[in-house]
Amino acid sequence: MNQTWWKEAVIYQIYPRSFMDSNGDGIGDIKGITSRLDYLKYLGVDVIWLSPIYKSPNDDNGYDISDYQAIMDEFGTMEDFDEMLSQAHKRGLRIIMDLVVNHTSDEHKWFMESRKSKDNEYRDYYIWRDGKDAETPPNNWGSCFGGSAWQYDETTGMYYLHLFSKKQPDLNWDNPNVRKDVFDMMTWWCDKGIDGFRMDVISMISKTKEMPDGPAADFYGDYSPYCVHGPNIHKYLREMNEKVLSKYDIMTVGETSGVTTELAKQYAGENAGELNMVFQFEHVDLDGGKYGKWTDRRVNLREFKQVMTSWQTGLEGKAWNSLFLGNHDQPRSVSRFGNDAPEYREICAKMLATCLHMLKGTPYVYQGEELGMKNCPFSGIEDYRDIESINAFRTLTGEGKIAPEDMLRYLALRSRDNARTPMQWDDSVNAGFSSGTPWIMVNPDYTEINAARELADPDSVFHYYRQLIALRKQEKIIVHGVYELLEPDSESLYVYTRTLGEEKLLVICNFTAGEEEYRIPREFVSGSVLTGNYGRTTVEET
Ligand code: GLC
Ligand code: CA
Repeated sequence: MNQTWWKEAVIYQIYPRSFMDSNGDGIGDIKGITSRLDYLKYLGVDVIWLSPIYKSPNDDNGYDISDYQAIMDEFGTMEDFDEMLSQAHKRGLRIIMDLVVNHTSDEHKWFMESRKSKDNEYRDYYIWRDGKDAETPPNNWGSCFGGSAWQYDETTGMYYLHLFSKKQPDLNWDNPNVRKDVFDMMTWWCDKGIDGFRMDVISMISKTKEMPDGPAADFYGDYSPYCVHGPNIHKYLREMNEKVLSKYDIMTVGETSGVTTELAKQYAGENAGELNMVFQFEHVDLDGGKYGKWTDRRVNLREFKQVMTSWQTGLEGKAWNSLFLGNHDQPRSVSRFGNDAPEYREICAKMLATCLHMLKGTPYVYQGEELGMKNCPFSGIEDYRDIESINAFRTLTGEGKIAPEDMLRYLALRSRDNARTPMQWDDSVNAGFSSGTPWIMVNPDYTEINAARELADPDSVFHYYRQLIALRKQEKIIVHGVYELLEPDSESLYVYTRTLGEEKLLVICNFTAGEEEYRIPREFVSGSVLTGNYGRTTVEET
C-alpha cells in the first residue's frame, strides 16, 4: 500500500463550541483553540479536525451553514482563523475542516433565493416537490431529527426536502451549478492552506430522481434506499477529486453512515480517486434498539470484535480504516464501551485507547477522551441543548412510546450532549473553560478529571495517550502491520496480532471488571512489552 502522512497521523477532533472560551461569553472560540495548540502539540497529535466554524444560526450547532466563507460571529473572525492556521502550521500541526455540503442552513443566501419563486435562478439548488395533496407531503420519509423530511413552504406552495432539521434544506447535487459553487468554495479554503476535509454525511448527497414512499418503520418511512449511496455518489466524488482534491496535498475522510466494507473500497479505495478514508458506524450501531440509539443496551464484546475484524480484514491492502470510539455525535467512550466507575475509569480508558490505537488505520481522539472524560450527569430535559436529543424526547414521550423517566435514562447514556460538555482544563471555576456562564453545563467531575491534574501525573490517561501516539511514530508495525484476531469466542478478552515482515505484535485487552487468565502464545513469551495499562514491563511464563 502507498505510504502517506495521513496513515501515520493521529487526528484530534475539536468541537469548537466546547473547547476553550477566550472572551468569557461562555462559548468556545477560535482564539481559545489557538491558545491551546501547545497542549495538542505536547499530546503529540498531527492533525486537528475542526467541527464547523462557519457562519450559522446554530440550529444544529454549526452543521447548518449560512455562509461557507465566513466565520461564525461567536467563534471570532477570519483573521482569528488565519492566525490559528498559521500558529498550527508553525507547530507542525495540520488542520482539516468539516465540510457540510449535503445541506445548508435555510438562512443561506442560496436557499433564501430558492424559496422566493419557482423561476428563481437558485430554485433548483434545493429539492422541491409538490405535496400529494394540500396537507400531505410528497412522500412518507422521516427526518433524522424527528417529523417529516419535507417542509411546506407557503411562498410557492411546494415542499422542500430536509433529511435533518427543517432549517437544514438538502442541496440538489444533480444541479451542475451546485457542484461548481461547492467546488469553488472548497478550492478557496484549500488555497488558504487548510490540510483537508472531514465530509459531513457525504454518502447522502446523491438522491434518486423518483422519490417514492420508503419502507415504513413507524409513522415515517425510511429515506435511505433513495438517499444513501445514491445513484451518482461516486460520479460526484470523482468529479470533486478531479476538480479540487487531487490538486492539493490534503487528506479527506467521509462520514458515510450505512457504509459496508465493499462500499468503503469504492469510496476510499487506494487509487479509487474519491476519498482517503471513510468513517463506518457499524461498531457504534451495535447497541441500538427498536427506537434507534434510545435504549440502555450495551455493546456485546463478541459482536464488537466481529465488526472491527471485518473492517480490519475487509480493507486490508485495499483501503484505509479510520478508527474511533467517540466523536461529537457519540456518548463518551469510557462510559459506553467500558466502565467509568471511579475504581476503573482510568485503567479502562487506557485499555480502550490501547485497543483502538493498535488497530490498523488512522486513530481519531475526540477532545477530552485523552483525559478519560465521561458522560455527564444531566438531570432533566432542560439540561440538554442538542436538537436531536430534545426532539427525540418530545416525539417519543409525546407519542407515548417511551416513558419520560426511561427516555431521560436513555438520554443520559446516549445523548450527543455527553460529548459536548466543556473541555476540562483545570479545577478552577467552569473547569477553566470559561470565565462566563458556559452554554451547556460543565460535568461536575472536573475537579477530579482535568488536564492540569493529568499533565502533572505521569500515570494519567493523558500521558498514556501521549505514549501511545509516540509509539506509533517509532514502530512501523503499528501503522502497517497486518491484523489477525485471536480468541474470537472470548466474551471478555479482545486479543489480536499485527504482523510486519518478521515482526509480530500481540495486543490483549480485558473488557471486564474482573481478572482474566490468558495464556500468551509461545512465540511471544520471549518478547518485550511495548506498553500496557497496568504498567507491566515483563512477560512472565507460568
Ligand atoms: C453529521 C454530523 C452531525 C450533524 C449531522 C447533520 O452526522 O456529525 O453532528 O447533526 O451530520 O449535519
Ligand atoms: Ca467565546
